[in-house]
Amino acid sequence: MGEIHMSTSAASGPPAGVPSTPTASSDQGPTLYGAAPTGRRVTTRDLLAAKERGEKWPMITAYDAITAHIFDEAGIPVMLVGDSAAMVVYGYGSTVPVTVDELLPLAGAVVRGSRHAMVVGDLPFGTYQASPQQALETASRFMKEAGVQAVKLEGGARVLPQVELLVSAGIPVMAHLGLTPQSVNQLGGYRVQGRGEDGEILMRDAKAMESAGAFAIVLEVIPSDLAERVTRSVSIPTIGIGAGPATDAQVLVWQDMMGLNPRPAKFVKQYADVGTVLTDAVGTWADEVVAGTYPGPEHEYH
Ligand code: KIV
Repeated sequence: MGEIHMSTSAASGPPAGVPSTPTASSDQGPTLYGAAPTGRRVTTRDLLAAKERGEKWPMITAYDAITAHIFDEAGIPVMLVGDSAAMVVYGYGSTVPVTVDELLPLAGAVVRGSRHAMVVGDLPFGTYQASPQQALETASRFMKEAGVQAVKLEGGARVLPQVELLVSAGIPVMAHLGLTPQSVNQLGGYRVQGRGEDGEILMRDAKAMESAGAFAIVLEVIPSDLAERVTRSVSIPTIGIGAGPATDAQVLVWQDMMGLNPRPAKFVKQYADVGTVLTDAVGTWADEVVAGTYPGPEHEYH
């Protein structure tokens, strides 16, 4: 693939060499997913309008320009440059070690590879918890250096001042409750959250995030009935991952749903076996290299 050019506006084009999508109108279509492209990126207002219409939508993770372009062309309205990149891109054992300097280039690539989706940058562990000021500095880097349209952070009431400051600075914030992987050591492992009385704490956290001005809330690995109650109690969209079918939206890490994770969680459904496709293709190519049948005459220059 050729050089990928830095975009100068949110509605700028796809990577060089990739065909652009025709634009339809300057207004959001009647649906978030499945409508004709609008010629601009999805906004927080579009997501709120979808909630009011009772319309569900998909969010997917992305970490590079090529896959971002594929998902964007498929009409996915929101892409998350998750700190899950710690594992699926950088090979760490958890999300904790990944840094802002490691995530920013990935977020920039996803922005450059897409033109319709809202791109959300995940604030890494240790880059927003200390103070609202620290959160503003980190979020500003994601907005200015990567060009994302929104940021995500984990936690409820304890990050309320952070969310309030970011929102007052004009930065759209996606909250994340339930199994928050950055706190996995405190939560006692990757376990279902919000059972019993903890459900009321989560409900209060969701309300706190809504009143602080968050535009959406990720609900990770919580009981389906709690996710349904939260979804009915807040006016902003909920995005479930292991939270049952009642949330307004669903999110998955793309490598999980495409069969690239050998040990996916219970909530993951595998939609393709990309691992086998890659294994077979690289094996066939290697065999042909060894046999001397690749490159063939059609691949030569004279
Ligand atoms: O980092 C991530 O990919 C996430 C999603 C799974 C919600 O936070």
